[in-house]
Amino acid sequence: MKIAVGITGTTGVIIGIRFLEVLQDIAETHLVISDVAEKIIETETGYTIEDVKKLCGKCYKNSDFFSPLASGSFNFYASVVVPCSMKTLASVANGYNENLISRICDVSLKQNRKLILVPREAPLNLIHLKNMVAAKEAGAIIIPPLLSFYHKPGNIDDMIDFTVGKILDSLKIEHNLYKRWQGENENNENEYEN
Ligand SMILES: Cc1cc2nc3c(=O)[nH]c(=O)nc-3n(C[C@H](O)[C@H](O)[C@H](O)COP(=O)(O)O)c2cc1C
Repeated sequence: MKIAVGITGTTGVIIGIRFLEVLQDIAETHLVISDVAEKIIETETGYTIEDVKKLCGKCYKNSDFFSPLASGSFNFYASVVVPCSMKTLASVANGYNENLISRICDVSLKQNRKLILVPREAPLNLIHLKNMVAAKEAGAIIIPPLLSFYHKPGNIDDMIDFTVGKILDSLKIEHNLYKRWQGENENNENEYEN
């Protein structure tokens, strides 16, 4: 299974890195990291760019429109931009292929392939919200990296795995990254599936 992965310049690039780690034995990943994301990886995580590149199958420059990923004829299962900046979201929502990541998203939509965006910004302005609606209407799946507590996260890694698990759910890939809600038992205690 080939999956194209874009990491763009927002805080939380570690979510994209964790996604690559989880996919290592599951999928053939084709990675593009934006210029700002490269800098944020260096400042915000303990990973070097070389460490991150080792986690993927193939890596491409964001300026490389000659890469196979830029063509609809290259058959990948899905593309995921995690995290997705408001700038990249805007380019997707408006069909503006300014770099390889936005081109991959455009190709996914035109080829009716799965496209998942993990937009990160707070607070969201009206343009951000409208661009999310436009991307959704065009066929993208929007998974913001939101906090959640029903799975009883113990630390930040659990929070990150929750978002990565939600992406995997949308890709229909089995995982145990977070505990699923199982309803309440007779004693009104929460039950979870392992
Ligand atoms: C440390 C840092 C954190 C940033 N966090 C965000 C963010 O959370 N969301 C966002 O939309 N942009 C954020 N930005 C701004 C984007 O990086 C900027 O708009 C850039 O043009 C995005 O380009 P890209 O999508 O090609 O990576 C951040 C920039 C820096 C330097």
